[in-house]
Order: sequence, then C-alpha cells, then structure tokens
Amino acid sequence: MNMNISNKKNDGSINYEKSLQYWADIPPTVDGVLGGFGFISNIDIEGSELFLKCLFSLDNPPLRNTALDCGAGIGRITKLLLIPHFERVEIVEPNETFINSIKEFVGEHESKLGTLYKVGLQEFKPIRKYDVIWVQWVLGYLTDEDLIAYLIRCRDALEEDGVIVVKENVTSSGKIEKDHTDSSVTRTFKQYISIFKKCDLKRIKQCKQANFPNGATVTTGEDTCSMLTVARRGTPRKSLEWRTAAACDGDAALWIQGSDRPVKGAFSRNFHYT
Ligand SMILES: C[S@@+](CC[C@H](N)C(=O)[O-])C[C@H]1O[C@@H](n2cnc3c(N)ncnc32)[C@H](O)[C@@H]1O
Repeated sequence: MNMNISNKKNDGSINYEKSLQYWADIPPTVDGVLGGFGFISNIDIEGSELFLKCLFSLDNPPLRNTALDCGAGIGRITKLLLIPHFERVEIVEPNETFINSIKEFVGEHESKLGTLYKVGLQEFKPIRKYDVIWVQWVLGYLTDEDLIAYLIRCRDALEEDGVIVVKENVTSSGKIEKDHTDSSVTRTFKQYISIFKKCDLKRIKQCKQANFPNGATVTTGEDTCSMLTVARRGTPRKSLEWRTAAACDGDAALWIQGSDRPVKGAFSRNFHYT
C-alpha cells in the first residue's frame, strides 16, 4: 500500500518521508525498533501486561477477540503482549522490512495474526472493529492534525467495550521536543490530554511506567517519561474528567470515579501514580 506523503500544518519537524527513510535503515530486531534500548523490552512488556490485566478486570472489560497493534515494528508487542491474550491480532506498520519480519518473529503463534496493513497511521482507515487498539511509541511521528483524525477513526472502530491504549513518552519540561533525526516530536502530557478531548475520547485509566533506566526514552529527549493511558468513546464530565476507573486486583495505580485524589491501590514496582 502506498503512503501518501503529506505535511500538514504545525509540528514543523514532522516529515513522513523522512521518518520512513530513517526507519528503513534500521535493522529488524528488538534492539533496532527500540532505538538501541532493547534491554528495556522486558520491563516495558511487564508493565503493559499489568495494565492490560487491570483492563480485563474493569466492570465492562474489553473482549479478547481482536487487537490492533499500531506502529508495530517487527511485532514485539504483538508477540509478547497481545497474542497471549487475544484470539487474533492485526498490525499497522509502514516499514516494509519490519512488516516482512513479523511472521518469522512471531513464530509458532503466526496463525493468530490477522491482516498486516503496510501503511502509515495517517493513512490507515480501519475496516473492522477492535476490542483493544494498542498504540505505542509511534504517535510522535504524526502531526497534530493527522493524529486527531487517526484517533477519531480508531474511536469509531472500537467494539462496544473496546479501548484504545496509548503508551507514549511525554516530556516533563512542559515543552514539545523535536527530533530532527527521525523527524518526530515528543509531546507534553497536556498536549495529549487536549488531543484526546478533541477526539471525544474519555480517559478511564492511567499509569506511568517506572523502572526504565535513565535516558532510556525510545523516542527523543532526556527528560521524558512513558505514560499508559486507556481511552474510550465519550465526552468526559468535568468533575470526573479523568478519574474513572474500576478497582483492580492490585498492581496498578488507579483513579476512582468521583474522587479528588488517587485512591489507595497496590503499587507494583513498575507503576506509580501520575
Ligand atoms: C520506536 S518504534 C516502536 C515499535 C513498536 N511499537 C514497539 O514498541 O516495539 C516506532 C515504529 O513506528 C513506525 N512508524 C514511523 N512512522 C509511522 C507512521 N507514520 N505510521 C505508522 N508507523 C510509523 C516505525 O516504522 C517503527 O516501527
């Protein structure tokens, strides 16, 4: 599938052709897709696993039929996180070498792979519904305008209790950081919140990934952390805005509906309240 290359206003450093070119030179390995930080993969997956388990213990949990891995690289998240929990996993990834490596990387579980879409997220138009749409370390390659349009398309492609999980680095400097090498940006937390609102997405649970070694930020910038957010369709009410969550068996920090403060929950070594 062709990538229609467009550069829309703002995010001046984002150029789809340039980021595609950057990734074309990267070897199809875990270390490659994690920018030389392959050693954080286990910690990352462990944290995501806990988060996913909490989602399954919501009152109205997503089903485990079909997940979508967006900006999937070689299928690291598909293989290590999604395939064990879902009947079928589909993939969106524009890099030809990466997408051609996925089946081999996934190995014995290849039969669980659904359609692999070789296309950028800015062009991707879902043709089916998903229970979980997992989006990790890729949104920095999209302009704000394309990101909003993409999230709206994902929102409309959710099954009834479906969720979008966004795991992205955010700057704590309060300023957007640009990386001219791979033509990406690292947004601030506030920018993501504002974007979710524009998409009519309600944030229902959030955790911060801890235990990443200093400097291990896969995209750009030194002063960043990785946040995990899950969102569903629906305009948030002001007082409850970002605090709706159900109790969970224990490993992640939760906001409880209607509370002003995070309610005591168990802390795992990989999470803490944001
Ligand atoms: C840091 S890697 C993360 C890969 C995977 N999410 C993971 O965590 O293992 C970024 C991935 O985003 C992909 N990518 C870059 N620009 C993209 C775009 N516009 N649309 C979709 N994917 C893109 C790259 O090809 C690469 O596979």
